[in-house]
Amino acid sequence: MTDTATQTQAQDAAAGGCATPQATPAAEPRAAPRRVAPYELLGGETALRTLVDRFYDIMDSAPEAATIRAMHGRDLSGIRQKLFEWLSGWLGGPPLFAQRTGSVCITAAHKPYAIDAAARDEWMFCMHKALDDLPDLDPRFREALEKALLGVADFMRNR
Ligand code: HEM
Repeated sequence: MTDTATQTQAQDAAAGGCATPQATPAAEPRAAPRRVAPYELLGGETALRTLVDRFYDIMDSAPEAATIRAMHGRDLSGIRQKLFEWLSGWLGGPPLFAQRTGSVCITAAHKPYAIDAAARDEWMFCMHKALDDLPDLDPRFREALEKALLGVADFMRNR
């Protein structure tokens, strides 16, 4: 995690307004000579962009995600960029969301929407399918990543 992101999280925690889980997947080999960020294990900026684009393409087209698709505006370009920026920092890459907004808190942005377990599972359905399009991922890393994302998605649940 970068100093900027760590600082921003400390500021959020101090403000008492955001407790978004920041635990990222720990999937580095035990004998790694240096800490490899999940961002790099995923494949960096290109892979993250592919993942987020696929995620919203699936949300936009899969009947299984119709409920959460209806929560979003017609144009998904803004949210594509926001999720890309947020995940970039969360995965230990450039903290783009924090740099732009001054915070990593996303819970408040979800409060207007009725997010129950079914909505959470629709979100994870899209992510699962999108990850299928990154076939070179180490299976252990993918498993850890999905588990960590489920933690964040479950945290967005407000009913
Ligand atoms: C659990 C089910 C979830 C639902 C139904 C959901 C839905 C939404 C909706 C409707 C918005 C507003 C979109 C707009 O402004 O057009 C939003 C914003 C956002 N969501 Fe989610 N979301 C979920 C989970 C997540 C998770 C797990 C993450 C991160 C891993 C995430 C990241 C974001 C970000 C970064 C924003 C933009 C926040 C901002 O504008 O400050 N969401 N989400």
